[in-house]
Order: sequence, then structure tokens, then C-alpha cells
Amino acid sequence: MSIPPVHPARLTALPEWADLLRHREALLGRHLRELFAEDAERGTRLTAEAAGWYLDYSKNRITDETLRLLLNLGQARGLQTRIEAMFSGERINSTENRAALHTALRAPIDEPVELDCVDVVADVHAVLRQMAVFADAVRAGQWLGATGQPIRCVVNIGIGGSDLGPVMACEALRGHATEALAVRFVANVDGADFHDNLAGLDPASTLFVICSKTFTTQETLANARLARSWCVGALGEAAVGRHFVAVSTNASEVASFGIDTQQMFGFWDFVGGRYSVSSAIGLSLMLAIGVPAFRDFLAGFNAMDEHFRAAPAARNLPTLLALLGIWNQHFLGATTLTVLPYAQRLKRFPAYLQQLIMESLGKQVTHDGWRVNYATSPVVWGEPGTNGQHSFYQLLHQGTALVACDFIGFVEAPTQHREAHSLLQANLIAQAQALAFGRRPDEVRAAGIKEALVPHRVFEGNRPSNMLIAERLDPHSLGALIALYEHMVLVQSVIFDINAFDQWGVELGKVLAQQVATDLAGNGDTLAHDSSTNALIRRFRGTRGSQP
Ligand code: F6P
Repeated sequence: MSIPPVHPARLTALPEWADLLRHREALLGRHLRELFAEDAERGTRLTAEAAGWYLDYSKNRITDETLRLLLNLGQARGLQTRIEAMFSGERINSTENRAALHTALRAPIDEPVELDCVDVVADVHAVLRQMAVFADAVRAGQWLGATGQPIRCVVNIGIGGSDLGPVMACEALRGHATEALAVRFVANVDGADFHDNLAGLDPASTLFVICSKTFTTQETLANARLARSWCVGALGEAAVGRHFVAVSTNASEVASFGIDTQQMFGFWDFVGGRYSVSSAIGLSLMLAIGVPAFRDFLAGFNAMDEHFRAAPAARNLPTLLALLGIWNQHFLGATTLTVLPYAQRLKRFPAYLQQLIMESLGKQVTHDGWRVNYATSPVVWGEPGTNGQHSFYQLLHQGTALVACDFIGFVEAPTQHREAHSLLQANLIAQAQALAFGRRPDEVRAAGIKEALVPHRVFEGNRPSNMLIAERLDPHSLGALIALYEHMVLVQSVIFDINAFDQWGVELGKVLAQQVATDLAGNGDTLAHDSSTNALIRRFRGTRGSQP
């Protein structure tokens, strides 16, 4: 197998990269304790604010010089030009010859963006109006099911970007959602997902929103077919028109599935699946929170978009987050990033970011097809605090791996339980403090700990983290937070010179699954796979008929 060669003018051969390497050597051995002691203003100086979000990045192992050198690196990679290329609709998704214009999804109607001589913002607003009319009708009980009942439950069927965005946002904004409408999500082709999420639902008052950009995704179509039979079995064929709508870019596949394209909410190939929650893919969210709140959600995105486009790099939140990420990963060796929202309702946010970051940055060749000789995406993971504290934080504090941490918190309590919220906030602040400053042996001894236990009770500290704070978790702050990470990804992709908007790496498994599915369903003795795959197929075949 031929491996593409490494680009001669690769990232790591840049003088700006070499400067950072030299600087890293000079900084090795410096502890955050010293850096804070040297500069009483550090905790307020190394901060930035935009679109309702406050970023405290002072607990990273950096100095002003580090920042200057990272900004030089961004400049050497033509960052500002690449940002402008995205906003203006250049076809920066080079392998699919597409623009990446998710920012147009939340642009005001009087700020046109032209693509092939068409104002895409006008199209976006036309779909938003169509969504609003539909959402208002459903929420007002005017959209009736086949037997004349209003809709009480919406089931979103989709996977990847057609699931993770809406499910994460619906969970995050449940405090803003109507109680008159339950929203459920079915993504996995595991029948248990369908079974468990449809449990207790009445077909007569259930609406299915089938979300698929391509409308060819195996899992989504399989679940949509299950939903169709479930609905038709109870209400008859004619009910489909009242109980199914689609969100897609593919009108002909929507029609061949049997959904009237009048009931399809469109979007465009310039919106990547993982960048699509601010498109019609957010329909189930709009149904849950209503039209004005959905508009606030889009306004939050737009506020961060405008900041990203206009703010100087040194005060630009997405750019800072991206450059600090590169520093932590490439110069300090933190190969994973953990996202720690201190908000239970953001429990799906780490999973959402896994797709956004790893599907975007998990690439091995540059735009021109040269092999990279540096790491691209970090591994992203996380859990809400404080739950994670009683699970994996041990490793964050005393493990041998250095993990970069993004803490996320909110000033206002999401419910009337204010005392609980104060405790949550105290933990949020204390965890970042503990990671940064640790506990020295002399401090442990001073606490009266027996000498034999001292090594076990020491916290080295010096572990980097970012702290992101907003006033409250609401549609606006959530939109801005998502846009922050979307643009963080763009910046890293520019530094890495990779395409953040394709996902060829998911194709091979899909193709092989089709052949394996055929073989699993068959009885033929001759299987043409490797010996392991053949044996696995025979083992699964062997269980046929033994199931309840
Ligand atoms: O997993 C690959 C992928 O193409 C994702 O990028 C996308 O979000 C998901 O599948 C679902 O695709 P679709 O919306 O076309 O069903």
C-alpha cells in the first residue's frame, strides 16, 4: 500500500513551529504556581469575552510569549484569509468541492451571502419561515393527526449530525421547552433504541421528524421504515401524511420514501451534517422551545460568528481556544481533551463535540493529499461535573497522562434549587484550582499526613484548563457555545492544513457492512472475507433461531 509522502513545507518545518519548540524548552519546569505568583493580574489578564461567554485561559501553561508565538503560527498559516474564505462561501471543502456556509444559517436576512449568484441567506430565511409556520401549528394543537388528535410527542429519527445536535440542544434547553410536547430521539439501528423510545406512545398523537441530509443513511432509513410500519399498522396508510415530515437536502429520496415534499424542510450541501443544528435539522428543537427561542438560539450563533470574523486573533475566543489546544496537544503532550460542563443539562455536549471535533479533525492528509507528520484531532471525551469527579478525575489529578480540560459553567441556577447550584459552582472553580496548583509535599506534611502516605497525597498540579462561563444556560448562550467550538475546529484545521468538512473515514465501514449484512442473511458455505470475519459471521449465523 502506498502511503502519501509528507509535504516538504509541512507545518513542523515552519520557523514559527521551531520558535514554539524552543520556547517550550525554556518554559519546561515552570509551574503555574510560579506564573501566578509572578503576575498578580494573571487571572484577570489572560481572559477574553464575547457573545455572552467569558474565557479564563490563565490556568494554561503559557506566558505572554507563548501566546505571541502561537499567534505568529496562526498568521503564518494565513488564518485571517482562511476565516474570510469560509464566511464568503469559497469552496473550502476541497474534496467535495463545497462551501462550508453554516454561518449563513444564522445570518440576518439583510446580510446576503452569495453562492453561485444566489443569496443563500434569503433561502435560509424562507425555510425558517416554513419551519415556524409548522412549529406554531403543532405547538398550538392545530396540526392534527390522522384521527383528529393534536400532536403530543415528536420523535426525531436521525443519526450523527442529524441526531446529536438536536438531542443535545433539546436536553440543554429543556427548561425552555413546552410541557405539552414530549420530544424523543431514535438514532441507533439497534431495535432497542426504537423500542425503548416509542414505549408508551400513542400513534394517533405522535409525529415523526425524519432527519437525514442525504436521506440514504442506512440506520436512519431502517428506523424510518420501522416508524412507518408502526404508524401504518395502527392508523392505516393514509396517516403517513399527518405523522411524517422530513428534513433533508434530497427531495427525490424523501419522495420515494413516501413523504410529500411539501412536508420536507430543506437545507443545502454547504451545510455539513455536524454543522447542521442551526439548519432545519433543528426542527425538533424549534418544536420543543418555540419559534422565538429558536431565533434566540440562532442569534447566539450569529453573535459568536461575528466576533470570530471581526475580533483580533489575540482576543478572539475560538482562535484562542484553538491555539491553546495546539499548545497543549503538540507542545505539552496532552493528546486528549476532556469537556466538563458543570450543567447536568449539557450531558450530551461532550458527545456532540466528539462528532464535531473528531469527525472534522480526524484526518491524516493535508488539503493537497500530503501525509501529515503531526497529530491532528485530539481524542475528545467528557462528562458533566460533578459526576465525573467521582469517576475519572482521579486520573486528571494524579494520573500519568496530561489531559487538557475545558470547564463550562453558568452563573445562574437552572432551577429554584439555588443552594445546589452554589455547590456545583464551588466544585467547578475548585477543580480547576486543584488541577493548576496541586498540593505540594510540604503542604501534605503540614496537614499531618504520615510520611509513607505523602507521595500518595501529593498533587503535582500544573495541569492546564480553560474555564468558560456564561450568565445562564439559555438558547442564546447555547448557540454561541456551539459556534465557539465550530470555529475552534476551523482554526485548528487551518493550522493543520486539513479539510474539516469531509468525512471519508466513515465510508469503508458502511460499504463493508453491506457485504457482511448479505453474508449474515445468507447460508452459503463459502465466505470470502478474512478468517476472523468469516468466523464471526458463522458465529452470528449460528445463533439464528435461538432468539425469543
Ligand atoms: O457518519 C457520517 C455522517 O455522514 C455524518 O457526517 C452525518 O452527520 C451522519 O452520517 C448522518 O448523515 P445523514 O444526515 O445524511 O443521514
